[in-house]
Amino acid sequence: MKLCVALDLTSKEDNIALAKKLKSEDIWLKVGLRSFIRDGKELLEALKAINPSFKIFLDLKIYDIPNTMADAAESVASLGVDMFNVHASSGKKAMSMVMERVNSLPNPPIVLAVTALTSFDEASFSSIYNASIAQKAMDFAKDTYESGMHGVVCSVYESQLIKSHTHASFLTLTPGIRPFGESSDDQERVADLQTAKAQKSDFIVVGRPIYHSVDPLSVVKKIIENI
Ligand code: C5P
Repeated sequence: MKLCVALDLTSKEDNIALAKKLKSEDIWLKVGLRSFIRDGKELLEALKAINPSFKIFLDLKIYDIPNTMADAAESVASLGVDMFNVHASSGKKAMSMVMERVNSLPNPPIVLAVTALTSFDEASFSSIYNASIAQKAMDFAKDTYESGMHGVVCSVYESQLIKSHTHASFLTLTPGIRPFGESSDDQERVADLQTAKAQKSDFIVVGRPIYHSVDPLSVVKKIIENI
């Protein structure tokens, strides 16, 4: 299991300062929409300059027509990121085209698909997909697997089940982790490290428990010792 630290601070400088504090560690850094739209490629380069061994997950959740997604995937891969994601609801044709394009490149990154956004409640989800979240998330995970993608972004509580319906090596990346039972903040369904381990999560995403701590490095070290 790998730790992926969410760089969700409000400025480029703050995100870089956090990465500098964590530069000794074997971790992944998650760069999301806000930071990437604002700070772009320069931020990614600055992070790699701090420690070339940092792995970068560009969390842009791409969703468009198949050809546009494949083009975008190629552009993302050319940034040198180690992992990025798309929406599984873009469909198997789009995801297969993304993988065909990515696999034709020299150093293909890991590609994941988001199953169901965890912000949905059952009623709002069903008004779009006419299905329960659990059912549709599993259908999306199977589509993702059959499209040749490497894994999914999912709730920690679905990780094991998704692997049992696809393949044990199919990756799961799970946000909403409160490693040692910290405050859940605005997350609805949080899980601690033990649960993430039991659920065989491959990547845990942790944001606030690290960057709101007075000593982010010691929290990261403690997480790594326990995974
Ligand atoms: O601060 P916290 O640990 O809750 O941050 C979790 C990170 O994972 C945030 O960047 C959030 O946007 C992201 N995320 C999430 N739930 C999802 C998908 C992404 O919390 N379903």
